[in-house]
Amino acid sequence: MKDVYILSIESTCDETSIAVIKNGHECVALTILTQMDTHAKYGGVVPEIASRMHTENITMVLEETLKKANMTVDEMDAIAVAYKPGLLGSLLVGVEFAKVLSYVYKKPLIGVNHLLGHVYANNLEDNLEFPLLALVVSGGHTELVIMHDDYNYELLGRTMDDAIGEAFDKVARVLDMPYPGGPNVEKAAREGLNIYKLPKPVDDDTYNFSYSGLKSAIINLVNTEKMKGNKIRKEDLACSFQTVAVNELERKLRKALEETGIKRVVLAGGVSANNYLKDQIEKVCNRYDAKLYKPRMIYCTDNGAMIGAAAYPLYLKKDFKDLSLSPESEANIC
Ligand code: KG4
Ligand code: ZN
Repeated sequence: MKDVYILSIESTCDETSIAVIKNGHECVALTILTQMDTHAKYGGVVPEIASRMHTENITMVLEETLKKANMTVDEMDAIAVAYKPGLLGSLLVGVEFAKVLSYVYKKPLIGVNHLLGHVYANNLEDNLEFPLLALVVSGGHTELVIMHDDYNYELLGRTMDDAIGEAFDKVARVLDMPYPGGPNVEKAAREGLNIYKLPKPVDDDTYNFSYSGLKSAIINLVNTEKMKGNKIRKEDLACSFQTVAVNELERKLRKALEETGIKRVVLAGGVSANNYLKDQIEKVCNRYDAKLYKPRMIYCTDNGAMIGAAAYPLYLKKDFKDLSLSPESEANIC
């Protein structure tokens, strides 16, 4: 069969990224332009600034990627773009850019769910086999899903309020750590001990997650200690939070492995960059003799390569979009 090259675009939040992906598995070229330093000054992503920066940079990111690949848009078999979920203004830049390329170069257009991009990122390292359990942990989502096959999914549970990444970011903020919070909380936690007593997120037997109670408990604890004039041991609080937050993922994953008998697990999303989380999930998988797919660091956070990997099964199914494709800010994995 002829090789398939997909030009894939990611602009859902604060990274402008474009890749060339061969046959859904090989990253020929990848450029990631992060706006992190700009947003760090404001303590979080400012949507208007994000979309303006995407607009300013996307053409340059395309040129850079094509140069690295030593290829032209004409040589691509399709144009893929992450069209949901994300910040509307940011998504709009990527989607319109992809539509123009698809129209001008007469290439099929593929719309990709960003969350599935995180799952399929694992195809850049490995070869996903089904059925599998996908644990999606990002800034906006916490979901546990059975993937029976490519694009054939069943939701087990998701967060009823905050996502785990959001909780990491809020805890970082209350502990005066800079944006992005997750990596800083992880760094602090490495130096700390699990000594603070924190509430268990969801005390039930469902697959639902909840992180707002845990987050509020930490905010209250910090405020109370401050009022009393007591010093907070940031490292210990970060470690206690991380332990409880990750323990909840372990608990639900154990239940899913037991109840479904599935022997494969995919870890996906920005929070999967967390080493403690990776180690704990790995331990659970070992105990159940399940294979764990976990992306390499560069593919953990937002990037265009994962969009091309997720687009490939859609290309094979000829599941193409037309020029009416519109971004959707709210979406889940299924
Ligand atoms: O998937 P992602 O890049 O963007 C979304 O789609 O949301 O995930 C970003 C989230 C942020 O909440 C960030 O704090 C978190 O991933 N994150 C981490 C770590 N690295 C990134 N959380 C905990 N530990 C980390 N090392
Ligand atoms: Zn993401």
